[in-house]
Amino acid sequence: MHQTQQQTVLIGGGSGFVGRFLKRHLERQGFIVLILSRSVQRGDLTWQQIKEQGLPECHAVINLAGKHILDLRRRWNEAYKNEVLSSRIETTRLLVDAINNSPKPPAVFISASGKCFYGTSNSKSFVETAGPGHDFPGQLCHQWENAASCIDTSRIRHVHIRLGIVLGPMKDKLSNTGIVPLLRLPFLFGFGAKFGTGKQFFPWVHIDDVCSLFIKSIFDNEMQGVYNAVSPNIVSQKIFMQQFAKTLHRPVFFRIPESLVRFVVSEDRMPVLTQGQHVVPDRTLQSGFKFNHAHLDDALEHLLHYHNAIEEKYNDCYDQ
Ligand SMILES: NC(=O)c1ccc[n+]([C@@H]2O[C@H](COP(=O)([O-])OP(=O)(O)OC[C@H]3O[C@@H](n4cnc5c(N)ncnc54)[C@H](OP(=O)(O)O)[C@@H]3O)[C@@H](O)[C@H]2O)c1
Repeated sequence: MHQTQQQTVLIGGGSGFVGRFLKRHLERQGFIVLILSRSVQRGDLTWQQIKEQGLPECHAVINLAGKHILDLRRRWNEAYKNEVLSSRIETTRLLVDAINNSPKPPAVFISASGKCFYGTSNSKSFVETAGPGHDFPGQLCHQWENAASCIDTSRIRHVHIRLGIVLGPMKDKLSNTGIVPLLRLPFLFGFGAKFGTGKQFFPWVHIDDVCSLFIKSIFDNEMQGVYNAVSPNIVSQKIFMQQFAKTLHRPVFFRIPESLVRFVVSEDRMPVLTQGQHVVPDRTLQSGFKFNHAHLDDALEHLLHYHNAIEEKYNDCYDQ
């Protein structure tokens, strides 16, 4: 999938966990990557610049920007929910307007969304054609996707990627690097635990597969519409925690009861942790996409050694 002519990809919110890895993957494919950020320190361009000067010429635009939904330091009150919502809707609208008004628009616009789109259920399976959930995360993703869908599809191909729980390297120098470094610490001290019953589905995906799917979406002109970025071999949270512990050669003795989860994260945020979604990457597989890390044991083993094996290659990811 190598390209011959150097082309530019603009990534909104590309300074975060997924964006940093995606930037490296794209650069290895020969792309020039521009990061769009709120701050001049974290990016090459700011949202304000796009608003005032329009879109720079580029082959693809990807939008990952959005305030973290599960920040445990914040209560899930209306003010916080509005911040989470507007951080996605406003950035998306700004980008969509800039793309639609561009005299030379990009060939493709790829917007991120999340598996939370489907709401939670311990019995249903969700393929890409399933409707949105009625809870706050479901409605958030629905509105986020609706804002992205205002793109002019007569001129620009549009792909939505609904991300599962993205697993990155076990050891990482960054603080905002997804769930894995956060889980690793209690497991290392022997305090690994499952939440609630542990029977809820855990829709995980390896960071390298996420990056490959974004890159395929740039190259593959047949791709348009929604694609689930989750492993085809989804497991329950209990199995996930057991495999995580096994990879680290640690035990998993504990179960955090739902009452304690409710106390720590509040009632309305609780389903996100204690109920899951059986998300199936149906259209993703139909598009011919091959997951390189489709099995959890292999994926976790790879992520355990990821840092040691390619730390040097990735060092410049961290130098920002
Ligand atoms: N990681 C996952 O497991 C996962 C799962 C499902 C969905 N997602 C979604 O996929 C996207 C990328 O995930 P990620 O893990 O890379 O997220 P991340 O590390 O939190 O990065 C998101 C980026 O969004 C920008 N941002 C944060 N707050 C913002 C605000 N109030 N207004 C505008 N921009 C803001 C930040 O860039 P600047 O500070 O440079 O502006 C940040 O680097 C996110 O929208 C996330 O919700 C992620």
